[in-house]
Amino acid sequence: MLTMEDIIRDGHPTLRTVAKEVPLPASEEDKKILKDLLEYVISSQNPEIASEKGLRPGIGLAAPQINVPKRMLAVHVTDEKDNLHSYALFNPKIISHSVEKAYLASGEGCLSVDESIPGFVPRYARVTVKATTLDGEEVQLRLKGLPAIVIQHEIDHLNGVMFYDHINKDAPFEPVENSIAIER
Ligand code: NI
Repeated sequence: MLTMEDIIRDGHPTLRTVAKEVPLPASEEDKKILKDLLEYVISSQNPEIASEKGLRPGIGLAAPQINVPKRMLAVHVTDEKDNLHSYALFNPKIISHSVEKAYLASGEGCLSVDESIPGFVPRYARVTVKATTLDGEEVQLRLKGLPAIVIQHEIDHLNGVMFYDHINKDAPFEPVENSIAIER
């Protein structure tokens, strides 16, 4: 099982590398890595397991964060209606998005960033993501709200982008034009 010791931290060059496409159908090795990513996020949200293994709670994790520069990510999060969005995806790609933006009112965090970096992180309010699941099924996910934010944060990791890259350094809490604030 993955622990915090497997997660590389800000400053590691892999976090700034564009990850490679996963050849499909996925190898057993790649499937195992993807399962491990999802297992981490699920376990980290279980207070007993998290405290026993010293896991920092997370709602998403991308393969580059465990120093595997391949296009894989896991998300496990509930939306504002309490619907669970639990995804383990190969080669996710945003194929369309809204003009409207959204941001988390409390800012974002990252398992690879130990300190908190305050500021609004503008994202698309709605995205359609095409990807392949662990079972080899091609899917299109239409996401909004927190799940849309999380998947954009994780796809950024596949492109060597960190959340704080999007923060306006001179005015981190400047209102984001044409946007909705998401409370969490
Ligand atoms: Ni992150």
